[in-house]
Amino acid sequence: MTRTAWVEIDRSALRHNLAVARRHADGARVIAVIKANGYGHGLTRVAEQLRDADAFAVASVDEALRLRKAGFDHPIVLFAGVLDAEELALIADRDIEPVIHHRSQVELLARANLSSRFRVWLKLDTGMHRLGLDEEEFIRSYNELKKLSDVVSDIRLLSHLANADDRGDPLTERQLARFDAVTGGLCRQRSIANSGGLMGWPESAFEWVRPGLMLYGVSPFGDALGADLDLRPVMAFKTRVISIKALRAGDRVGYGGHFTAPADMRMAVIAAGYGDGYPRHVDPATEVLLNGAPARIIGRVSMDLICLDLSGHDDAKLGDEVTLWGPGLPVETVAAHAGTIPYELLCQVAERVRVHEL
Ligand SMILES: Cc1ncc(COP(=O)(O)O)c(C=O)c1O
Repeated sequence: MTRTAWVEIDRSALRHNLAVARRHADGARVIAVIKANGYGHGLTRVAEQLRDADAFAVASVDEALRLRKAGFDHPIVLFAGVLDAEELALIADRDIEPVIHHRSQVELLARANLSSRFRVWLKLDTGMHRLGLDEEEFIRSYNELKKLSDVVSDIRLLSHLANADDRGDPLTERQLARFDAVTGGLCRQRSIANSGGLMGWPESAFEWVRPGLMLYGVSPFGDALGADLDLRPVMAFKTRVISIKALRAGDRVGYGGHFTAPADMRMAVIAAGYGDGYPRHVDPATEVLLNGAPARIIGRVSMDLICLDLSGHDDAKLGDEVTLWGPGLPVETVAAHAGTIPYELLCQVAERVRVHEL
């Protein structure tokens, strides 16, 4: 028997969200960020719907090669860059554009003996202090890469915003100013905006933008939902009721007996759990939609099962449809109840969950 839980992927929502990104980009070109298996939605499935993007970005050589194998001839930016000569040869051969974020990668290129030339993206650390070169290393690397014209066909520049999910954080403006100051005199093919930058700071667009989360219909801001920003959720995570039973006042439910029935009541069991990618640590106010109406989770989320309070659901029956997140129940809301971010929930939907494309 196949697993009951499934996700629905609304392909037209992907195309709609890309159009929203384009509107915000105001003429800048769009690199659709589809790393981590298209934020859990399926790498090539997502790429297919986002064909109109000017480029794709992924995090690993594997993903870049999968896109090429599936026939996508878009520019592909490889965020993590390459670790060794073997990876370098692989990506050069497939015309994949690595991010150069560390001096060792410049040295690798200087030693490379390749038959093809390819574009690179040089990364400046403007204040996130994760990947990227400091200003002195960045300028030095830029000048060295310029001289490697038998390997490097051209150089584009990028950086990454640390806190663009918080519209009130002054760090974003400082990062933008720094990026412009350091790169402005070097080249006019630059990129710093993620979804939050793109939607919150129009001046962050430069020549290329790199939206990820918003393409999946999810708000990049802690104080808004996707729908507030004209985004449409792409993923709906669903399952069905597989048991209904009566509880007596005082009965305790599930592992650890964390929920105690305050009175006689009915409960349902649904076929989803942390083994499907639903977060185990949701707070007691977390709801799902049962036949489209809110129903509260009771007791602990287990690997395959979740229990629901059927108060107000007198007509509930076996087989009824339950939405864990999706239209009507934003993944942003579930993430907040789980003390995490929507990125994590989308990325961790398990392989055993079936996928239906709409
Ligand atoms: C370097 C880089 N650029 C762009 C993005 C897209 O960010 P977001 O999904 O917030 O739009 C990411 C995602 O983490 C990233 O790592």
